[in-house]
Amino acid sequence: MISRERLMNGWLFSAAYRDGMERSTDNSVFSPVSLPHNPVDVPLSYFDEGCYQSVSCYRRVLPARETAPGGTLVLRFEGVMAVARAWLDGELLGEHKGGYTPFEFDVTGKLAADRPRILTVAADATERPDVPPFGGQIDYLTYAGIYREVYLDEYAPLSVKNVRLWSPDALAPSPDLEAEVFACNGTGKDAPAILTLSLCTLDGKTLSEQAFAVTIPAGGSAVQVPLRAALKNVGPVALWSPESPSLYRVSVSISGSANSADTMLDTFETRFGFRTSQFTSDGFFLNGQPLKIRGLNRHQAWPYVGYAMPERAHIKDVDILKDELRVNLVRTSHYPQLIQFLDRCDERGLMVFEEIPGWQHIGPAEWKDIAVKNVEEMITRDWNHPSIIIWGVRINESADDDEFYTRTNETARRLDPSRQTGGVRYIDNSHLLEDVYTMNDFVHSGGETALRDQRDVTGLDKFVPYLVTEYNGHMYPTKKTDCEERQNEHVLRHLRVQNASYADKHISGAIGWCAFDYNTHSDFGSGDRICHHGVMDIFRLPKFASWVYGSQVDPETAVVLKPVTHWARGERSIGGVFPLVVLTNCDEISLRFGDYEPIVIKDKEPTLSHLPYPPFVVDFRHVSLEKIGAWGMRWEDLTLTGYVQGREVAVCRMPKNPLPSRLSVRVDDSALRAGEKDATRVVVSVLDQYGNALPFADTVATVTLTGPARVQGPSTLVLRGGSTAFWIESNGKPGTIRFAVSADRLDSRTIELPVL
Ligand code: GAL
Repeated sequence: MISRERLMNGWLFSAAYRDGMERSTDNSVFSPVSLPHNPVDVPLSYFDEGCYQSVSCYRRVLPARETAPGGTLVLRFEGVMAVARAWLDGELLGEHKGGYTPFEFDVTGKLAADRPRILTVAADATERPDVPPFGGQIDYLTYAGIYREVYLDEYAPLSVKNVRLWSPDALAPSPDLEAEVFACNGTGKDAPAILTLSLCTLDGKTLSEQAFAVTIPAGGSAVQVPLRAALKNVGPVALWSPESPSLYRVSVSISGSANSADTMLDTFETRFGFRTSQFTSDGFFLNGQPLKIRGLNRHQAWPYVGYAMPERAHIKDVDILKDELRVNLVRTSHYPQLIQFLDRCDERGLMVFEEIPGWQHIGPAEWKDIAVKNVEEMITRDWNHPSIIIWGVRINESADDDEFYTRTNETARRLDPSRQTGGVRYIDNSHLLEDVYTMNDFVHSGGETALRDQRDVTGLDKFVPYLVTEYNGHMYPTKKTDCEERQNEHVLRHLRVQNASYADKHISGAIGWCAFDYNTHSDFGSGDRICHHGVMDIFRLPKFASWVYGSQVDPETAVVLKPVTHWARGERSIGGVFPLVVLTNCDEISLRFGDYEPIVIKDKEPTLSHLPYPPFVVDFRHVSLEKIGAWGMRWEDLTLTGYVQGREVAVCRMPKNPLPSRLSVRVDDSALRAGEKDATRVVVSVLDQYGNALPFADTVATVTLTGPARVQGPSTLVLRGGSTAFWIESNGKPGTIRFAVSADRLDSRTIELPVL
């Protein structure tokens, strides 16, 4: 590529596409919008999900643009839900089926200098049964619109359209870097060329570089010719891992060797991480070392705007998964997610299970062809992300279909032999056509069995590479506002399944359902169009279960001390707070009731001992009634202290008489970027005297805002479980956003947020 223009601004939108709109210049039914765009803001809950399922129309002027002779101009869409048809000045460019993968149209020579051209896109967001994931019922919403980036990319006459990188011996002291380069030749004749492959540090220092003389046959600018190049013995490299996600920059450039237009340099740049990853019948190995996978599933959706969130919020999700939920893997259930999300996973060291769109239903032959194409589009888009360790090539939880899944597996293995395949199923004894048996094991319903022995699931008499891809979820939906006892059981179920995963070396790991609550169809969830299955709510605010994961971290990195209680005398049935689960990575805790002598507890819960950091479970074994006669008869403050190797590292205090004392308003970012739509989250909480959110404070807060931005969703907020959040969405103009949040009985807060 020699240049890339982001086409995020300057679009016109009409909620309804009508036949012939692509030939009309009448803009009267259009209004200005920018990307990412959702045609309809949906309410938080209880809405008719049919509201966004229509065919809408986008229009944009493409300025006149010359291309170098033999060069190519390509219009690239990263994601349009779910079928996109595009025209330039009324002439059909093409159609793409599938809302989660990119597609391109060649517009070379079509933007000639005489006048600007009109691009029209009809975006069909109806749940068309001919396109995955549709045809059955799905437990998530697919929203609508051009919800990802659009680019105008220019390529030189000899160009590099894509590159697949891998290291066959990444663990060697001086490994090799292999490249499969997909070059195009638009010169009309076979072209001798120079191809240069370079490995650099992220700050641009070249570590290894080599030029290769190649010949690219005259296939035309749309035909990708695979070429091979390799850097041998690149020298010592730092490996990519969750603890230390070392990345390198790789560039591949190409130019003709003759003295003509095709000598223009065309370059492809990407990042790369040296690592090995292998699922075996004895568990998962990263860089040759066993690593238990502890993950959560994630949908790419938010309240009100659905999928149409600027990249900052996607990136924030990675940071939440990494820094708050402390998981080492995310499954992009149930479709390829935004590239910047994966980029951030690379940067932060969060492993990824990426899969094709679909949910339980398999359609007829043409539908399957699209699914196979989705495999190709996903893999060729994402094969250089070191974070991705497995491709999911089945329709999530579908029945066996050997002919179909032989094709998806063959496609994945042909395109990327360096990664194993999985395919998420929920049926026992399903045919293992993939490299890894990836199973949604929902066996745990509160009883003793937390996960099944893999042989009982696979029906095989030997161990195979095996990964649990979902558990919990609908088995125990839990809202952030649910009562303490329910939340406690929610916590225990997540603990038990993770413990069982750690206990069984034949299980590579377990990925819980799910990270965040999400909007869904009326057939699923709590009837309110929300699946309350997350360990965080839809605003990414924690439920107690989030600390099951959050506490599995070395206390050197972060100390976690979270009692699973609201500390009220009468919240649980009969009263009291026992048994009290304390989620922590401390090795000792002390619990102090009012002014009584502290009770020191050193024994962690023995039935959860396989976890890296098992919780404490405190009950009357630890608290003797003789010592604290008053316990339960009257109520006192709690002071919980955590120790690591005898050193006090954390204190958590909860008042006996919680009262609203402060409105906390916290913004995720200190500034937004001008130029395009951007967004950041604001978390609003009502805090007690000690800074804990008041769990049943259903306070109403009001936001007022001035400046180049809007509040996504309503400006009147209902705090659920003592807190809520909203996103501020800027409109691309520079300036200062000023907003104030006020709530009854509390001092309001005013914050300035620059857009630079
Ligand atoms: C699974 C499904 C997920 C979600 C989950 C709820 O069967 O794969 O998408 O619906 O159940 O627990």
